[in-house]
Amino acid sequence: MRRVGLLTVDRQMRPSLQIVSLSKRFGHLTILRDISLSVMPGELVCLIGPSGSGKSTLLRCCNRLEELSGGDILIEGRNIYSGTARDLKTLRAHTGMVFQSFNLYPHLDVLANVTLAQRKALGRTRKEAEAKALDMLGLVGLADRAKSYPAQLSGGQQQRVAIARALALDPTLMLFDEPTSALDPETVGSVLSVMRNLKTRGMTMLVVTHEMSFAREAADRVVFMDGGMIVEEGPPEAIFGAPQMERTQAFLSRLSKPVG
Ligand SMILES: Nc1ncnc2c1ncn2[C@@H]1O[C@H](COP(=O)(O)OP(=O)(O)O)[C@@H](O)[C@H]1O
Ligand SMILES: [Mg+2]
Repeated sequence: MRRVGLLTVDRQMRPSLQIVSLSKRFGHLTILRDISLSVMPGELVCLIGPSGSGKSTLLRCCNRLEELSGGDILIEGRNIYSGTARDLKTLRAHTGMVFQSFNLYPHLDVLANVTLAQRKALGRTRKEAEAKALDMLGLVGLADRAKSYPAQLSGGQQQRVAIARALALDPTLMLFDEPTSALDPETVGSVLSVMRNLKTRGMTMLVVTHEMSFAREAADRVVFMDGGMIVEEGPPEAIFGAPQMERTQAFLSRLSKPVG
């Protein structure tokens, strides 16, 4: 049921993801401090920063793969750390996560890889799940590889299967943790173009990446993290063109130095 009037406006303005004063400790080491960040529906936010700055831990918190030391995380307005085990299952299904390593089942073909979680997490029938899987494989440009096994595909193709698998669960939000870092350079582009396509379809995405040209041209907002904190955030033109903080400047200038 759709309501008109103020309620609709409220819903549209509500962030898909809202991280409020998050802190995370491992033992007595503080890994994330006082992180607040919202991602609005349809927004693509890129998270950048040096290795060890806490980017993966932050993403893992958004899928409740970690327990928090302080603060809250809300997805679609619901506190994800206060629900039951059943809520958690729904949350994981509707928060698509794509890692650097694709984690496909090597003994299952592509279609079965994209079908399995739909049947387990959402209880879809084989027929429903396969129809959805073929749709999503079409979206990532792999409809003709449904019967292939992961080992027969390039890294970029495997990562696109992993993206299709996440999309098949009808996520409201997609979390990407360095999705192209493990790929051969020649297949990186195909994965980035799938992500751009998702953005034009209105998908909400939080993306940890080292692909600065992707962040610069595709992100609505770029967030720079260092030492477990958000140092600076803003539109890509501002972060890349005129970073305000010394740590952001230092990070970006290290990246732009020629290698070798
Ligand atoms: N399970 C863990 N136990 C202890 N320390 C951890 C754990 N996971 C990550 N860390 C530490 O947290 C810091 C941030 O790690 P991570 O989130 O992986 O950073 P990034 O993704 O930005 O490279 C690092 O210093 C890392 O060693
Ligand atoms: Mg990481």
